[in-house]
Amino acid sequence: MLPIFAYTSIDSTNIKAKELASTGAANGTMVIADYQTQGRGRLGKDWLSSAGRGLYCSIIVRPKILIDAYPQITLVAGVALAQYFEQLINRKIQLKWPNDIFIGGRKCAGILTESALPAAREERYAVIGIGININHKLTDFPQELRSKVTSLYLQKEMLFDIATIGQEVRDTVLEQLSLYEKNGLKHIIGQWKERDFLKGKKTQWVSSQRKLIVGTALGIDDKGLLYVEDEQGAIHEVLSGDVQLAEK
Ligand code: BTN
Repeated sequence: MLPIFAYTSIDSTNIKAKELASTGAANGTMVIADYQTQGRGRLGKDWLSSAGRGLYCSIIVRPKILIDAYPQITLVAGVALAQYFEQLINRKIQLKWPNDIFIGGRKCAGILTESALPAAREERYAVIGIGININHKLTDFPQELRSKVTSLYLQKEMLFDIATIGQEVRDTVLEQLSLYEKNGLKHIIGQWKERDFLKGKKTQWVSSQRKLIVGTALGIDDKGLLYVEDEQGAIHEVLSGDVQLAEK
């Protein structure tokens, strides 16, 4: 049995998982909490962590991959979650690069992967933090988010057992990761491209030079990098930042 550290309340499951990983916790160890006081998303955003509504968990992984490949872990976890949700609620899932899970154009889950990559290979790890809107009603979200988010409950009109989903999510993520370690990224990229939310859409993001780039998302390449063609026809690799649908 792989270890699970379960908390009623915690600052952030990612913070706890990083502590455990840095003191040697095994591949597959999971931290799960009913409620987070400092739930975090990508780019320093807050992650709403209402008690008893969502899954807030972090899975420690120690894949045998090169350091350069660590950013791909988020894509692998995204495909695992998409396949899992598709069989759970029988709806088509979309993936918004690099870490969002969408249903019907609204965000249902997000992934925050944090890695420690020292020279000693056996000390390396990633923590895959996963937040899923499970039993949320629309009124559980702040007013300004209500047009942008969804939950499994809102999609299926039934309540789900959060602990069971936690166990199944860990199993499915670990299974996809071990397939990826064995077979490489090719299959994952194929699965990811089938669900690409942004491809062909008009998008905008702020580049590392703080310039607003508006253009059409071209989709991801074989390494999982996203490209956008701007209105002058120049092609940009999106290195970081938050890619959004363009406002007009
Ligand atoms: C995102 O969409 O930006 C990523 C959200 C990740 C949220 C999860 S909830 C469990 C884990 N602990 C955190 O503090 N964040 C992740």
